[in-house]
Amino acid sequence: MKVQSTIAALLVAGGICFLAACQDDLSEQARLDTLDVAVDASSPRGAYEQVCANCHGDKGQGNEDLKSPSIAGLPAWYIEEQFQKFKLGQRGAHQDDIEGQQMRAIVMALTDEQIKEAAQTVSEMELVLTEKPEDEANLERGRYMFANNCMECHRYNGKGEVVFHSAQLIGLNRSYLRRQLENYHTGKRGSDPSDLYGQKMVDVTSRMTDEEIDILVDYIGALAHGDDPRPARER
Ligand code: HEC
Ligand code: HEC
Repeated sequence: MKVQSTIAALLVAGGICFLAACQDDLSEQARLDTLDVAVDASSPRGAYEQVCANCHGDKGQGNEDLKSPSIAGLPAWYIEEQFQKFKLGQRGAHQDDIEGQQMRAIVMALTDEQIKEAAQTVSEMELVLTEKPEDEANLERGRYMFANNCMECHRYNGKGEVVFHSAQLIGLNRSYLRRQLENYHTGKRGSDPSDLYGQKMVDVTSRMTDEEIDILVDYIGALAHGDDPRPARER
C-alpha cells in the first residue's frame, strides 16, 4: 500500500523524528503496525482516520510534536487547492521546507477521490480556534496591522475568501501560523514562479520583522476569540 509505505519511509528517514515516541524502537514498531491498513476511500472518513489522523489528530486538532497544524474546519476548496500545490511541487518542494516535504509525500500517495473525501471530512470538523494570546500588550498594534495589511484578503473575521484564494486563519495554531509567515518571508513557501497566490503572501511578508510576525500571530488569536478589527463606522 503506497500511503502506508510513505508514512513508514518518513518515520525511518534519517533525522526526521516526527513521532513523540520515536526514540523508542518498540513504540515506533507498534505505531507502524497501526498504520498497516489499506486506505478505503469508500468508508466514511476512511482516508482521514487511516492516514491523516496519525499526524493531525482524530479531531483535526494538530500535533505540536509533529509540527502538524490544526486543520479542523478548513474549507474543502482551500484544502483541495493546497493539495494541488503539493502535487505540482509549488508547496513542499523547497529543500529547507521539511514539514512541507512531509505533507507533500502524503499527498503524492493519494488518489483524487481520497483527496476529495479527506478534504470534505476535514471541512466538516468543528473548528479548533487559534490559541488566545498570552500577552495582550500589543493587541492594538496587531489590530491596526491586520486591518491595514491582511483584512482586504482574509476578511474582517479571518475566515478567508474563496475568490481571493486566501486561507482561513482563525483555526490555525500559533506555532504553525508563525512558521508559515516565516516560510513566506524566506521564500520556503510561495516563491515558485507559477504559484501566483503564494507570491502575494511572499510580497506581504517580505519586509516583515520577527516582532511584527509575533504581533500578528497574537492578533489572529484575539480575532479567533471575537476581536473586531474594523473601524466602528464600518461594523
Ligand atoms: C506524516 C504526518 C502527516 C500526515 C499523515 C498528514 N499530514 Fe497534513 N501536514 C503535516 C505537516 C507536518 C504539515 C505542515 C506543513 C507545512 O508546515 O507547510 C501538514 C499540513 C497540512 C495541510 C496544510 C494546512 C494549511 O493551512 O495550509 C493540510 C490541509 C493537511 N496537512 C491535511 C492533511 C490531510 C487531509 C491528511 C490526510 C490525507 C494529512 N494532512 C496527512 C503532516 C501530516
Ligand atoms: C493580497 C491578498 C492577501 C493579503 C493582503 C494577505 N494575504 Fe495571507 N494569504 C493570501 C493568499 C492568497 C493565501 C494562500 C497562499 C498560498 O496558497 O500559499 C494566504 C495565506 C496566508 C497564510 C497561510 C495560511 C495557511 O493555512 O497555511 C497566512 C498565515 C496568512 N496568509 C496570513 C496573512 C497575514 C497575517 C496578512 C497580513 C499581514 C496577510 N495574510 C495578508 C492572500 C493575502
